Amino acid sequence: MLVLLDQTRLPAEEVELVCTDAPALVEAIRSLAVRGAPVLGIAGAYGVALAAVRGFDVADAARALESARPTAVNLSVGVRRAEAAHQAALAKTGDATEAAAAALAAARSLHRQDAEASARMAAHGLALLDELMPGGGHRILTHCNTGSLVSGGEGTAFAVALAAHREGRLRRLWVDETRPLLQGARLTAYEAARSGMAYTLLTDNAAGSLFAAGEVDAVLIGADRIAADGSVANKVGSYPLAVLARYHHVPFIVVAPVTTVDPDTPDGASIEVEQRPGFEVTEVTAPQVPVTGAGGGIPVAPLGTQAYNPAFDVTPPELVTAIVTEEGAVSPVTAEALAELCARSRQV
Ligand code: MRU
Repeated sequence: MLVLLDQTRLPAEEVELVCTDAPALVEAIRSLAVRGAPVLGIAGAYGVALAAVRGFDVADAARALESARPTAVNLSVGVRRAEAAHQAALAKTGDATEAAAAALAAARSLHRQDAEASARMAAHGLALLDELMPGGGHRILTHCNTGSLVSGGEGTAFAVALAAHREGRLRRLWVDETRPLLQGARLTAYEAARSGMAYTLLTDNAAGSLFAAGEVDAVLIGADRIAADGSVANKVGSYPLAVLARYHHVPFIVVAPVTTVDPDTPDGASIEVEQRPGFEVTEVTAPQVPVTGAGGGIPVAPLGTQAYNPAFDVTPPELVTAIVTEEGAVSPVTAEALAELCARSRQV
């Protein structure tokens, strides 16, 4: 079985969610009990191993898992890695138990690699911050949730802020609440509080006045998919921050493992952006409030209101100051520099 911390219940409760088969994991991914690009890859790989260990059809499980959510490319990277290990072992030994063990080993190795990548991204990211803003005392604005909840290690963008905090160089972490599902308020604030960081929560709408007041030194976000041209898909609300950052001459930095770069997606327009149910916008669905609406939450809009609810948006490369990966930073962000980075990472 696969045991996950149910992220839909945070910060009110720390509750484990036990998945005994791949369909249960697919549901956990769809409901965002497990979410965030790197950990989706890790969970997907473990899901394939789970199907193999339990004797289910591994290819069926892999297809269901990788299509559970469309935008984060890490999910299919993780699923395919475990599936390939399973297939190779089966072809070599003809033994289902050995093939299942190979899938599990691949999942564990991805989990370990992600933790290592996280530590390296934190170091590269902090070095970049210090280069861009010598003197320290960084005031960083972040969006969505990119800490240890989404990673085998300490995360992506959040890991950089955490490294700055540990070095005494983080003056403040500004946390966007991240409507509609409040990953910033529920999860990033939870992680920042546990880490003892100086943090302040703001509504997404308040970011503009914060920039105008000169209170933001850098924006640090994660990514769900980076196209070959450097376009970055991340939680909806990231693109407006990039526009604000450019207008206010503030660096806009994306932190993501190399597995988030997808050479098979040529540009931003080719990235499939997940559309989520309208009730996430028309109702408050936080777990700690009593439930009454069609989606299980409290209605905050007239019944029957249509909602536009893309889970992600795409920031064009020209608005991204740098992409920080475990292999180093790419700046300026160009297709050539990203291709070179991917090639270097394959050689390691
Ligand atoms: O819909 P979510 O909560 O899965 O969206 C997650 C994000 O957008 C994160 O910023 C992204 O996955 C990067 S996590 C390191």
